[in-house]
Amino acid sequence: MSVVSMEVKDGLAYVWVDNPPVNAISHGVRQGILEGLVEALEDDGVEAIILAARGRTFMAGADITEFDKGPQPPHLSQVVETLEAAGKPVIAALHGFTLGGGLEIALGCHYRIAATGTKLGFPEVTLGIIPGATGTQRLPRLVGVKAALDLITTGKQITADTALSLGILDRLSGDDLMGQAADFARDILAQGEGVRRLSEIMIDPQSIPAGLFDDTRKSLAKSKRGFESPQACVDAVEAALLPYPQGVAREREITLERRASPQSAAQRHLFFAERACGHIPNLPKDTAKRLIKKVGIIGAGTMGGGIAMAFSSAGIDVTLLEIAQDALDAGLARVGNNYGGNVKRGRITQAQADECMGRISGTTEYANLADMDLVIEAVFEKMEVKKQVFETLDDVVKPGAILATNTSYLDVNEIAAATKRPEDVVGLHFFSPANVMKLLEIVRGDKTAPDVLSTVSALAKRIGKVGVVAGVCFGFIGNRMLQGYAREAGLMLLEGASPGQIDQALYDFGMPMGPIAVTDMAGIDIGTMIRQALDPSAYDANAFAVHDRLVEMGRKGQKTGAGFYRYEVGNRTPIPDLAVDAIIGQEAEARGIARRSISDDEIVQRCIFALVNIGAQILEEGIAYRSGDIDVVYVNGYGFPRYRGGPMHYADHVGLAKTFEIICALRDQHGGRWWTPAPLIERLAKQGGSFHSF
Ligand code: 3HC
Ligand code: NAI
Repeated sequence: MSVVSMEVKDGLAYVWVDNPPVNAISHGVRQGILEGLVEALEDDGVEAIILAARGRTFMAGADITEFDKGPQPPHLSQVVETLEAAGKPVIAALHGFTLGGGLEIALGCHYRIAATGTKLGFPEVTLGIIPGATGTQRLPRLVGVKAALDLITTGKQITADTALSLGILDRLSGDDLMGQAADFARDILAQGEGVRRLSEIMIDPQSIPAGLFDDTRKSLAKSKRGFESPQACVDAVEAALLPYPQGVAREREITLERRASPQSAAQRHLFFAERACGHIPNLPKDTAKRLIKKVGIIGAGTMGGGIAMAFSSAGIDVTLLEIAQDALDAGLARVGNNYGGNVKRGRITQAQADECMGRISGTTEYANLADMDLVIEAVFEKMEVKKQVFETLDDVVKPGAILATNTSYLDVNEIAAATKRPEDVVGLHFFSPANVMKLLEIVRGDKTAPDVLSTVSALAKRIGKVGVVAGVCFGFIGNRMLQGYAREAGLMLLEGASPGQIDQALYDFGMPMGPIAVTDMAGIDIGTMIRQALDPSAYDANAFAVHDRLVEMGRKGQKTGAGFYRYEVGNRTPIPDLAVDAIIGQEAEARGIARRSISDDEIVQRCIFALVNIGAQILEEGIAYRSGDIDVVYVNGYGFPRYRGGPMHYADHVGLAKTFEIICALRDQHGGRWWTPAPLIERLAKQGGSFHSF
């Protein structure tokens, strides 16, 4: 079946693109549009041409799966130029999503009409590239440089209303898009308006606010620290001030550079990895889903409140349960304050905040949870408390409801065994703040039913999260790997690095905060408490000696005004503290550890390859289904720089032979207790393989 067809009706040619699911502009689509266009132009009975797409959306962009194959003619830019060069009016009829190359095609057409509800945008920057089929040259000519820079450098989607007010659209249609597109075509013909070509417009340099390009570059250097493509987008838009052919040539040069860049490979990897994690192996797509309309949450603390907001903001009714009325009141007040903060920052309106709060009710009675479809437990991280909660839930909640735990580390199978329905129990591990962080680890117990997994995986998407399925082990995917990262940071403190040096090295690698500052923020005592429940053979006591000393001294982190750093009242900026340097020195001496100068490279290498080595073990054990799932967890839950694609992609980029060599060298230097290379790395290194295939 051809992905493009052409039909003529009443003097109008309709060129239809039909390439499900999102009409990505594949080679066949590019070829087909050109052929349809030529046929329509040669037909004397055709007076105007309407370009439209079948299915749920207009073209959502170039076919990203073709990027690794290299450009194959006809190029997208050739299609756009040919549309614009047509001697008969060409009208784009848009619906669904008009993104990336889809918008470039629409801008090549002479007129644009869209159904209400259409979303438009240039998401290329999120893939590490630029709109490279003349989008950076045509959009500024149409809407002005300032508005074009905003759209192209952020990748945001705008509504059809906004696009109309910016001048991207000429008309909005009601329900009957194609009927109104035909009327529009006839109006154009009746008024003799003919063709309009954006490439013929010259931008008046006087229309550009002084310093706009430099200010935008500076502001993006902060808000998109480390990302190359936002800067490249500014360069390309600036080239729109040149005569059109030179501007397009510059855009082409930048495009080829960006497409070949490691950052683009990393960001494209994540695009597919974030979609792949919704596909659960051995779970047919048509697996039945349970209906989730009402959600109960146990515990209105930091996590319970955030989880309540995540559901309520997605339009789902929530009942929060606490042990006592005062704790419930405090929890609801925190949620109210958070919504209030969102209103103040202009993220939502007061009416939306009221609506969200209206969906959240509180209770101290378990009986009020009887008819919930899903209950999520977010009480203290203590097995005994959690088991008691699940026993009670088993007694009161209706059959068929899903019972979930937000535990960070505990054994989901043991929690499930506290009920008579372990098949209904699953881990739903949210990240703090739960109303903001995109990641949701879905922990499948040994007995979790397939329809429970399928339901919560779809639910993750419904509440705007990326759901990644993990198996049961201490800390699941993310926190288990974090053990290694934190361990190396702690050991390097004793070996000679300062908290500030460690944090700066990892910040410069691209992490939003270094590991020591993160520990201060989360509370140093949380880790101490978790380790107390562990067998001492499970962790390296040296690595956490300073942590435990600080907790003994009451220096638990930001919440006590001091931890590894000092904090001034009401200020979260970490201030280095000589007293902590002294404690580090004492602990190193007491443990016979000689202090030396440690390079920033060593800091990054040890912390990041500790993640990679444990990631490989997790993969081989089947705790994670795919290496991409691990990358999705680290980018969306732990702030691993998106432009590096996640720890496993980073190792692939370094090369697994080199990765194996680095880990072996670390083993030779620090011993095999933590640094024995994962067998999977050794095997892939020897075969010349990569994690990508897993
Ligand atoms: N190329 C190839 N495949 C694509 C694709 C694309 N541009 N966009 C989506 N897909 C695939 C997805 O991988 C997914 O495949 P799967 O079912 O096998 O996992 C399937 O289409 C459905 O996608 P979603 O699950 O994302 O569907 P949603 O309904 O949730 O979202 C969407 C729809 C908003 C259109 C979303 O798919 C999206 O944002 N797509 C990418 C848009 C984009 O980045 N366009 C720019 C491409 S680059 C470009 O155009 C370069 C040009 O300037 C030269
Ligand atoms: P928290 O201490 O802020 O809140 C726990 C709440 O549970 C308190 O309000 C307490 O009154 C209530 N509670 C305790 N026992 C209860 C019971 N039997 N019935 C009803 N309510 C009860 O703790 P936080 O940080 O919200 O953590 C909760 C869970 O979420 C823990 O399992 C934790 O490991 C997990 N988690 C925490 C993250 C974090 O960053 N804080 C991140 C991800 C998971």
